[in-house]
Amino acid sequence: MPAEQLTTPNGSGGPASAVLTADEVEILLNAAVHAPSQHNTQPWRFEVHGPVVDVLIDEERVLPVEDPAGRAARIGIGAAAFNIRVAAAMLGHESRIALNPDPARSEVAARIFLAARSTPVPELGSLYGVLRRRHTYRGPLLSHPIAHKLLHRLDDAAEAEGAQLHWLDPAAAARLHRLLDSINAEELRDEDRIDERRQWIGSDRSDDGVQEGALGAMPDLPAFVRDLSAGFGDKRDHVQYETFPMIAVLSTPEEDGVAWIRAGLALERVLLVATSYDLATSFLNQVLEHVATRYEVRGLIGGQAWPQMIIRIGYPADTTPRTPRRDWHASFDHWF
Ligand SMILES: Cc1cc2nc3c(=O)[nH]c(=O)nc-3n(C[C@H](O)[C@H](O)[C@H](O)COP(=O)(O)O)c2cc1C
Repeated sequence: MPAEQLTTPNGSGGPASAVLTADEVEILLNAAVHAPSQHNTQPWRFEVHGPVVDVLIDEERVLPVEDPAGRAARIGIGAAAFNIRVAAAMLGHESRIALNPDPARSEVAARIFLAARSTPVPELGSLYGVLRRRHTYRGPLLSHPIAHKLLHRLDDAAEAEGAQLHWLDPAAAARLHRLLDSINAEELRDEDRIDERRQWIGSDRSDDGVQEGALGAMPDLPAFVRDLSAGFGDKRDHVQYETFPMIAVLSTPEEDGVAWIRAGLALERVLLVATSYDLATSFLNQVLEHVATRYEVRGLIGGQAWPQMIIRIGYPADTTPRTPRRDWHASFDHWF
């Protein structure tokens, strides 16, 4: 949008007294839409009010079968909001965030307040360089260990957003494996779930959803990777996967809509830091989509915190393509 189109809402035609220029809004919202979201539904909308960016939930893009409470959607929204803060920092804006800020408009999930540009560039800006490199990698991992120092950096990233990572020991990972086996089998019998998956997963995609190429190979034995295709349309190669990858459960102390957005902020910070060290990540969230198995995972991490994401982390043995995105204008509502 050219700068002369930035008019005040009363239509007076003069340039808006926004801190943000049109180019900056483009950079911020382009960063936002590169966030992860379940099945790549991109369940967000954006409004810009002067120096304030609102991230709203797009209820039409919340998955009714796999995400009836909108938990996963809010995690995606948190991730998108984090990307806005990263891009703002790269541009020199300090920012502050409020979650569920407007009692009169419950659809506003996150509100980001940007300060005037300053130097030096705020520290978060250093993550901007990896924002487009981050993607979900479902292929096999190399057996290289991850240095403890890096694992601590990921812990710090989660804690900076009020969440926590719990690294599973071999006994807990083996228990998780059994839970995954039982849920994977159950999901193949769930017609509603399979119908919903068909809407979003497989074949070629140009705007949203997960195209077949991004699903990764098929493991030749049960592995710690989610087969999002749920058994349909499978022409993928079968390859050997690692036996026990590093697995971290991202948790929050609370369990409500705000905690879910917070989990998304923490998730994206962890993923961007991981990407900056060339680590690949994917998710095993199927066990968190069912109440009974989610409670089992809660038990595996000590019974106090709420598991929000299960992350498999390691060095990739292969490459997989990125998923598409809708143009940011498609989810941009207003410029006030
Ligand atoms: C809340 C949430 C849950 C997700 N659950 C899974 C999952 O269980 N398995 C998986 O392979 N990917 C999962 N994903 C990853 C999405 O499929 C992925 O982010 C989306 O397709 C966009 O692709 P990208 O991450 O490569 O940009 C999840 C993402 C989010 C935000």
